[in-house]
Amino acid sequence: MKYMGSKRAMLTNGLGTLISKEVNNYARFVDLFSGASFVSWFVAENNQIPVLAIDLQKYSTTLAGAVISRTQAFDSSALVESWITKSAKKRNSSKLWKKSRELSKHGSDIASYVHESRELCSIKSKIGPIWNAYGGHYFSPEQALTFDYLLENLPTNEEERILCLAACISSASECVASPGHTAQPFQPTVGAGKFILESWGKDPLARCKINLEFLSGKHAFVKGDTITDDAQNILNQLRPTDLVFIDPPYSGVQYSRFYHVLETIARNTKSVNVDGVGRYPALTERPQSKFSNKGQSFAALKELLVGIANQGSTIIFTFPSDETSNGLSGDLVIDIASEWFNVQNNTSIHGNFSTLGGNNDNRDARKKSSELILLFKPR
Ligand SMILES: C[S@@+](CC[C@H](N)C(=O)[O-])C[C@H]1O[C@@H](n2cnc3c(N)ncnc32)[C@H](O)[C@@H]1O
Repeated sequence: MKYMGSKRAMLTNGLGTLISKEVNNYARFVDLFSGASFVSWFVAENNQIPVLAIDLQKYSTTLAGAVISRTQAFDSSALVESWITKSAKKRNSSKLWKKSRELSKHGSDIASYVHESRELCSIKSKIGPIWNAYGGHYFSPEQALTFDYLLENLPTNEEERILCLAACISSASECVASPGHTAQPFQPTVGAGKFILESWGKDPLARCKINLEFLSGKHAFVKGDTITDDAQNILNQLRPTDLVFIDPPYSGVQYSRFYHVLETIARNTKSVNVDGVGRYPALTERPQSKFSNKGQSFAALKELLVGIANQGSTIIFTFPSDETSNGLSGDLVIDIASEWFNVQNNTSIHGNFSTLGGNNDNRDARKKSSELILLFKPR
């Protein structure tokens, strides 16, 4: 899964080595901003300590929990039959599926295919939230209905359910017709129409099977846990024996604006009200982070570091060295942390980093920058 600010690449470029060197000295690893959970998975799969993954968004903690809350690989072959095949059978006998299939035999006119898809997906469905909210926009009618049947038929057993839900989240991020994330769907213009057809041509069932098999094969050594909340609210649970990983947002735009489609899947309520071209749920339904608000980010960072210092935990912190769009910078992080911590590692990784929300019309979507990997030990 592609994720803004993901540390997947950095794990093989300095971060993984530092974590592996440090982690043996601690009783627990706490990933305070777990995102696509690559770091949580990495630690849980390779070390004999539990991982606690925290994020504001439920899709993130679902992805983390699907791996770190299990201590054995799972044989997913039975689930393919009892979940994916069963969902497909129910879907295939529905009226909306037949209409969606007919519509997909469209001519070469992408604009009318998209327009008619939006019309079709305005028919009320009680199956799940995706059809009415995102069908004809982020997903084809066939894809939207498929996701709804997959969500409706999730297993009831908690271990199986979280695996299947995580497989849906990963698959949706692979199928979605939008550039890299889910802030705006592609529109059927001369330039972007082909991207809609490419995305809408992807089969959610096949993707879910692949993602289910991938996730089922992964597991922790020691059972971990997840919390969906503001990192600030769990600081009193931290201990001196914790190694805390901090990879906060560096964008002035909220993650919940970019990933609302995945959040809708993770929450899996029967329906969701959406608005505008981006099909956003109401602001009250989209978690807001002080770290993505330029006016609040400095105070939030300081509060976080003081809170962790009070608990006596050690921190590995990653952040771009230069100023980012939320007004923070790696140098500022070092300045603030130095008051309570000894800075014991300060490595700079050079690369092309996403500007998170930039696009090629106004500013470069990726720009050359360097990102710091910092180790803060309490004084
Ligand atoms: C840079 S991403 C983390 C990427 C992650 N390390 C990875 O490798 O995939 C930042 C994450 O912080 C989360 N977030 C933002 N504010 C938060 C807060 N106050 N508490 C917890 N999580 C927060 C966002 O939802 C986002 O997933």
